[in-house]
This record gives sequence, structure tokens and C-alpha cells, in this order.
Amino acid sequence: MCGIVGYVGNRPCIDLLLDGLERLEYRGYDSAGVALLDDDAALALRVRSVGGIAELRGAVARHPDAEALQASRTGIGHTRWATHGRVSEGNAHPLSDDGERVQIVLNGIVENHVALRSQLRRDGAVFSSETDAEVVAHLVAGALDRGLAEAVRHAIAQLDGHFAFVATSPQEPGVLVGTRRACPLVVGYGDEERFLGSALVGLPDDLRGAHALDDDTVVVARADGLQVLDARGGIVQPRQLLLADAGAHARPSRNGHDSFMLAEIEEQPQALRRTLRAQAAAGWDVGPLARARRVSLIACGTSYHAGLVGRYLLETWGGVRAETDVASEWRHRDPDVGPGDVVLGITQSGETADTLGALRVARERGAHVLGLTNASGSQITREADATVLTDAGPEVSVAATKTFVTQVAALAGLSLRVGLARGTLTPSRAALLLDELERLPDVVEAARAASAAPIERAVERWSDEGFFLFLGRHVGLPVALEGALKLKEVAYVPSDAYAAGEMKHGPIALLREGTPVVVVATDSPVLDKLRSNVAEVRARGAHVLAIATEGAAGVIADEADELVLVPPTDPLLSPVPATVPLQLLAYGIARARGLDPDRPRNLAKTVTVE
Ligand code: G6P
Repeated sequence: MCGIVGYVGNRPCIDLLLDGLERLEYRGYDSAGVALLDDDAALALRVRSVGGIAELRGAVARHPDAEALQASRTGIGHTRWATHGRVSEGNAHPLSDDGERVQIVLNGIVENHVALRSQLRRDGAVFSSETDAEVVAHLVAGALDRGLAEAVRHAIAQLDGHFAFVATSPQEPGVLVGTRRACPLVVGYGDEERFLGSALVGLPDDLRGAHALDDDTVVVARADGLQVLDARGGIVQPRQLLLADAGAHARPSRNGHDSFMLAEIEEQPQALRRTLRAQAAAGWDVGPLARARRVSLIACGTSYHAGLVGRYLLETWGGVRAETDVASEWRHRDPDVGPGDVVLGITQSGETADTLGALRVARERGAHVLGLTNASGSQITREADATVLTDAGPEVSVAATKTFVTQVAALAGLSLRVGLARGTLTPSRAALLLDELERLPDVVEAARAASAAPIERAVERWSDEGFFLFLGRHVGLPVALEGALKLKEVAYVPSDAYAAGEMKHGPIALLREGTPVVVVATDSPVLDKLRSNVAEVRARGAHVLAIATEGAAGVIADEADELVLVPPTDPLLSPVPATVPLQLLAYGIARARGLDPDRPRNLAKTVTVE
């Protein structure tokens, strides 16, 4: 969370910084700021504002020194998702020491900030924000007589936590110094200019090259050069070249839609096609998975829901024992994992702090560590023994849509190959399943078309409801969970998702005349049992929106007030088409309530803090 950018070069850079921040806004958007060096006056001009980059642009335009801001050729910028300290201009970055000798922008958390703050206060520092990050500005300023790069190296030796930050000082014009520990920081090169940023997407299109930085290295960037220092101050070469990475660098587009969320829902067939093609081409070694004693699928949010589907796929097709857990729970519960186990972290961004933390636990205990991500070059690709890539293209909407369906498709592809390797699937059965997998883009396209009218009616009918219950069984349960999550995230509608068989043990008490209940009733081995659950819901006066499989809707169709029929596919693949109407439902209700689905309150797309 939080996006940072930096520029040093021969061009005025305010627009480059603001444009970069705009593209990094998915990382947080509660407040933003820039600091630019005014070489003539030997000072830093800082502009901060509450809100997104649009608000920051306004503040820049109104600034009394607008001319100096426009002329500056060294600057840093930040878009914030608040961790320590409420959302306010004073807590927005860049942050500086009380003498304004140093400006910093930071992503992450300084865990020992309380102790550091007390120490710095004892030494006379005066703090002006409630943030953990301000201690970094004071630490760097306190050591500035050694030069900015050494001061940064000195500061990080005292920091606990995970962070990436960039510092600049009017005492060293034309220099940016950046560093990272477990949060991302990339450097890009142009002609006589250097860029720093949280992700490649925040840097301009026409770079000549880009690298990701290693943990605890310090980068010193000038217009005409760049030096990377290790923790002891020795010069090292940045190892990871990024710029082959055209996918991650592709500019996201709304494709004529009113939001990224809708554009990304509509783009799902193409995202699936690309992912299936990439997977076929990758020639990925499934040996470790096929030999695994057990596979643990670990993730957060929507990726966790993909992992829940993955467990069925790995167990049923792959014939391998599997479990799925949320990373923030699994990593802290002394998991029984060790040599012979595979731990597969699923994370679209490749940066989620808890998922990465869980993988480190797995590695320490001797498990084989795999990653499934949509972001090549992301942190997980550096930490896992091997990484499977989805190719959904950049996802901007905070609520994940196309990355979910591509994660499920990738897990299906892996499970199929594991099943073949282990002999759980015969070659002919595997060939049939592969055909089904390859048909998924068309199935999703048809599911979207079939959803349009019934979902529009459902939105009209239920958009003012104060509560929704989602029910599913078997692989329908993760779909129900995902549907409820989408509705909470983008439309702020309280909703619960439950295993339909558990409904009688509590949630049925919530039902009243007219309560909307969304039932994921696609073809499955337990469809008959689910039908009984739907009848029980109806008998309590609830109104039912059912997602059912064409040709297998049976009794469900009679019980449903609104029905979406999705095309048939293999039951274990049905979560892919069945999720589409629920994405559209959440989107439609958000819009009906006048909300911007791309910018849900309090959320960030990439959660780099625990
Ligand atoms: C955040 C996002 C969700 C996402 C989750 C996990 O909560 O808002 O959309 O599902 O993080 O992110 P990851 O990048 O690990 O898949």
C-alpha cells in the first residue's frame, strides 16, 4: 500500500511525478503529496493534500511558488493509504524533519517507530505528524553530515519493519536516494534521467531499462548515473532486470467503460485466453506438486477464494492432499509444514505482506515454495522456488475480478497436469478436461451475456436492501464468498456467505420476508441437497436470486425469483462462469447507490502491510 515515485534528470518533472502517482493510485488514495527541489533557493517545495491525485493537482496549481514547482528537475511523490495516523494533510507524505533538511516518501511500516520517536525526541527532534514514517526523515536528517546516501544506510540499520522509501535533500541537489526492505522499489533509466517507483507502472513508457532493487540495498540516483550500495556500503549491481516485462508495463484502460471494474469484468474472456496460452507455453515443472505430501494454498482476499476452488481441483483432479488458508492466520498458527510439503502462495499483486510472510515461514520449515501471481517481477517471483504467472494484464479496480478467474484457470491447468503425472487422471479424461478448460473464455463470454438482463432486474429490485445472504456448497461456496466480498467491497452492503448446509445452524435466523438470498446452484455433486436448502429459504419468505447451470436448473428455477443461467462446463470449472453475474451484481448495486466501484472507501489494491 502507498505508492511512491521519484525523478532526477534534465526535464521539469512535476507532471511526470503526478502522472506516475495517478497510475499508482490503486495502492492507496486517501491523501497525496510531492516535494520538489528548488535549486536556486536551495530548498524543497512541498505540496500535500487530502484526497487523490486530482486534488493534489489542484493544490499544485494553486501553490504560491507554482513557477518554481514547474521548473524543478528533482522530486518525489506519494499516494497514501493510512496506517499510522489519520488521513490529514499533516500526515500526508512527503514528510520532513523539523529543519526541512530531508524529505521522504515511504511505503510500508516502521515497526519500532515508538522507540525511535522517543529517542529522537530526547535528542531534540520536534515531530509534526502522527505517522511512523516521520522517524525516518529525522533519522536521515540527523546523519546528513555523512552525505544523503550514507545517512539513508545509517537510518535503515536502525529500522525494524518492511518499507521502501526515497529521500531527497536540498543540501544535495540532483540526487535521490532510495531503499527497500520487503516492499517494492524499482529504478528506471532514461536519457539523462532516472526514475524510482513502487512499480513499473508508475514510471513512463519510454524507459531504456529498469531494475528491481534487492532488500536492504541503497540506490543513489543522479541524472547521468546510478549506484547501488549493499548494507555494508559496497557497490553492487542491481540483479533483477525488469524491462522485458511488457505485460506489467501495459497501460491499463477503461476501454470506453465508466469504470475499470466493468472494463475488467468484460475483459475476462481475453484474460483467460492469454493465461491459458501462457500456461501452455510455459512448460512449467509440476514435479514438486505431483510429489507433494500435501499442498497448502495460502492467500488473502479474493485470491483466497481462488485457493478454495484450487483445493477441490488439486484433490479431485490432481489426487493430492490440499488445504487452503488465509495467510494472516496460517502463518501465525505454528503450521505443521515441512520437507515434502508444497506451499503455494496465491497473490495477484505478488506483494501482499501476509502472503509473503507465510511463504517465508514455509521456507524456513523446509517446504517447497511456489507462487501464483499476475505480476511478473513482483516480490513473490523473487522469493518463491518457482512462480506460475497468470496473464490477466494490469488490474486497476481495487475489487479483483479478472485476476480471480485467471487464478482459478491456472490452478485448474496445474491440477490437470498433476493428475496426469500422478495417474489420477487418464490421458483421455485429461484431454476432455483440457478441452473444457480451453472453452472457458467462451463460457465466460456467454455467462456475461446471459447475466445482463436478470442482473439488471436484480439490481433494480434489491439495490436498497440492507442485507444479502449468499449460499453455496462444494465449489459453489467459494463463489458465494466471493460474491459477498464483492458486494461489501464496492457497494458497502452488509452480506454474509455461508455453506448452504450450515445455514440451519444460524444464518437462517436472519431471514425475513423479502430478504435477498443469492444461491450459487451450478451443477455439482450436491446439487440436490442445495435444492432443499433453497426450498427452506423460500419457506421463510426470502427472495432468491439463483445462479444455475443451463440444463441443470431443475427445481431451482421454480424456486428462484430471479435466475441467471450460465453455460455448462465441468462442475469444478463452474466457479469461473458463476462468479461473473455476482461481479456484475456488486458493480450494478454500487452504481445504483451512486458509488465509484473503482475507489471503495478504506481499501487499497495492494496490501503491503500486515
Ligand atoms: C486487497 C485487495 C483485494 C485482493 C487482496 C489480496 O484486499 O483489495 O482485491 O484480493 O488484497 O491481494 P493479492 O494481490 O495478494 O491477490
